[in-house]
Amino acid sequence: MNFFIKTFGCQMNVNDSEKIRHILREKGFSAVDNEADADIVIINSCAVREKPQAKIFSYAGRIPKGKIIIAAGCVAQAEKENILKKNPDIHYIVGTHGYHKIGSIIEEIGKEKKRGVEAGFSKQWQELTPYVEFRESPVSGYISIMEGCDNFCSYCIVPFTRGREKYRPFADIVREAEYLSAAGYREIVLLGQNVNNWRDERKNMKFSDLLDYLAGNTAVRWIRFITSYPGYYDGELIAVMAKHEKIARHIHFPVQSGSTRILKKMNRVYSRTRYLQIIKDFKKKIPAIKFSSDFIVGYPGETEPDFRLTLSLIGKVEYTSIFSFMYSPRKFTRAYKMQDDIPLDVKKERLHRLQDLQKTIQLRNNKKLIGSEIEALVTGPHPKKSGEVIGRTESYQVVNFVSGAAPGEIKRVSIKNVGPYSLRGEEL
Ligand code: SAH
Ligand code: SF4
Ligand code: F3S
Repeated sequence: MNFFIKTFGCQMNVNDSEKIRHILREKGFSAVDNEADADIVIINSCAVREKPQAKIFSYAGRIPKGKIIIAAGCVAQAEKENILKKNPDIHYIVGTHGYHKIGSIIEEIGKEKKRGVEAGFSKQWQELTPYVEFRESPVSGYISIMEGCDNFCSYCIVPFTRGREKYRPFADIVREAEYLSAAGYREIVLLGQNVNNWRDERKNMKFSDLLDYLAGNTAVRWIRFITSYPGYYDGELIAVMAKHEKIARHIHFPVQSGSTRILKKMNRVYSRTRYLQIIKDFKKKIPAIKFSSDFIVGYPGETEPDFRLTLSLIGKVEYTSIFSFMYSPRKFTRAYKMQDDIPLDVKKERLHRLQDLQKTIQLRNNKKLIGSEIEALVTGPHPKKSGEVIGRTESYQVVNFVSGAAPGEIKRVSIKNVGPYSLRGEEL
């Protein structure tokens, strides 16, 4: 039987889909690259905001009739049998902790197209497969190091879709890192909802020890990690990053809001001052470090002065890139019980102001790069311009240049031209 996996959501879902694909291939199923050729369509879903969640059901509705459809991922985990009730075309629900059973679930569905739900939570880390072939990227390999989140930010559904924090044992992480570097990956990305809380109690190790080990023992150019929660920064992590050039000088460090009052309401445990202090500490030890972030505008009770504090924080930090979203109420969360009191037009207007400011900052800072030489990891050919490739800089900026380089090659590039969202260079 042929299967196709459609992935929505974050890198964690991308990596889960890679694992599901690996498991199913090992069981003798064949992967195909579109819905029409597949007997089984697996939808790996994201629940983080209402829009992405809605996309999943419209996608399911467009799948040609007669296929087995499995809803997996975060919406499946959160909504369980509700999905089956509302969507007669979907056969089975497989939550975020059910992937080890995916083969037997497909057998159970069988010719009769039986319906069912597998959406329990496991308390411990489940090692689905020791290694994963055929990943999305031939250059940058994802390694999940933890799953779940204990932070319970008031707006966020993730603790309800991924459960409590579970940490992958050190030895399993190292095995996958070694596998990826031997397979020629140039970059590894450590994944988790809250990576800096990772630990291996049996080995008495914390996240900074893991990074120190991987940076000292893995033959890749860059090690990255995502996402780190600004609540738990310590000097040791900064010291380990300063020690190893291999750890990319770029951190995705989502602040959400620049107003301490709103941060408190969001149940983020840091203040504006503390966040800015951590950024300062990093810059002192690692002057070249760059940051990116996520923002939510229009959280319940956000006033114009609160929002201006977010703008002023953006002005102070000068991120290389950001993701920004309008607050979207999510079932199960604490904020869901509050009134979503910021009108849509105000949310939209704040989002535009925030994005405009960030665009100006990015353009201004990118202009300063003109004439400089930058290292670029080639991720692949330019999809539209033949003879050109797309690369990523250490600070995770996109750089385009004319080159015959293959994905995975690292090139020195002189920056000639810039826009707010990408750089253009010449190979040296
Ligand atoms: N663990 C990560 C975030 C994962 S969710 C962290 O703590 O930063 C990715 C982003 O989605 C969040 O950073 C937040 O900006 C956004 N997000 C989460 N829930 C949201 C909601 N209810 N409405 C709008 N944006 C939300
Ligand atoms: Fe969600 Fe907060 Fe956990 Fe991030 S840290 S996944 S925003 S609860
Ligand atoms: Fe979405 Fe689940 Fe990731 S809700 S952002 S796919 S952890």
